[in-house]
Amino acid sequence: YHVWLSEIMLQQTQVTAVIPYYQRFLQSFPTVFSLAAAPSEEVMGHWSGLGYYTRARNLHQCAKLVVERYEGNFPADPALLEQLPGIGRSTAAAISAFSYGTIAAILDGNVKRVFARVFGITGYPGSKPVEDNMWQRARALLPEHDIESYTQGLMDLGATLCTRSSPSCQRCPLQTRCVAFAHNLTAELPTKKPKKKQKEKQATMLVILHGHQVLLEQRPNSGIWGGLLSLPEVDGMRELAAPDAPSIVDTNENLQKLTRQFGDAESVKHLPEFTHVFTHFKLHITPLLVQLSQRHSMIAEARYVWFDMCKLETAPLPAPIKSLLLALGNQG
Ligand code: ADE
Ligand code: SF4
Repeated sequence: YHVWLSEIMLQQTQVTAVIPYYQRFLQSFPTVFSLAAAPSEEVMGHWSGLGYYTRARNLHQCAKLVVERYEGNFPADPALLEQLPGIGRSTAAAISAFSYGTIAAILDGNVKRVFARVFGITGYPGSKPVEDNMWQRARALLPEHDIESYTQGLMDLGATLCTRSSPSCQRCPLQTRCVAFAHNLTAELPTKKPKKKQKEKQATMLVILHGHQVLLEQRPNSGIWGGLLSLPEVDGMRELAAPDAPSIVDTNENLQKLTRQFGDAESVKHLPEFTHVFTHFKLHITPLLVQLSQRHSMIAEARYVWFDMCKLETAPLPAPIKSLLLALGNQG
């Protein structure tokens, strides 16, 4: 029970921070039975300040299960421990090793960092192949005796000397066989999580002009620029939008359909492409300038409005669209 409690508390918290919590916890809940029987508010209260509160909920649930299933005795088999809430593969091995002397391999974040450096393992340790490789090594390295010292030594090495930034290599007993130390790679290993490639999208937007007015469209409330006015967009224009494509208005059905709702297109001209960067993606915008010769007196759909170019300054438009239109207005 004590080993389990300490391992759960130490999962994402440093030893010095854990000690007072550990002591207060054991005073209030001296046995797994008292913990299992305690009201959940009281358990959460004793955890308050340690963070990662899922750990506390799992802890309480786990205590109840150990009482129910195992009469209050934690099983020795890591495979059985692993089935309990809050106990992963590495924690199961640690609890079993410290409590029963079971020869079982641990691999938490600290151990992964030590392995990556000592053995010079490149690749993100959170990826399946690298993690598999590390589990294999963790098993192969296990001693036949004194698993407690080995496991605690490995944990302490990662927590105190082989720290994430500026590890204390000069005081490290593994210095002479450490690949990262030999090649001055402690800053590069372990390999960082690869950044997700930023998504890119393309949109062709129409600047439909008639006299001093521009046609704007109300955007749906959800999604980017939700609820703002913006330029109407047409799909399937990627290739046709090439600057040297011949008279787009004749060849693109979408463009024809859209403009016909509002009038007769007199000319279509490419404006310079530009890119707007959102938090999660880049939007490449191809604006097309459509000049109407004739304009229908009515617009069938309410989401479209003709907007005075001289009132753009205060219009509810996305910033890049407003800039584009203001620049156009200034040109004449
Ligand atoms: N982190 C997780 N378990 C630990 C332990 N037994 N000692 C030090 N840090 C730990
Ligand atoms: Fe970590 Fe440095 Fe020791 Fe290598 S020598 S295991 S990098 S502390």
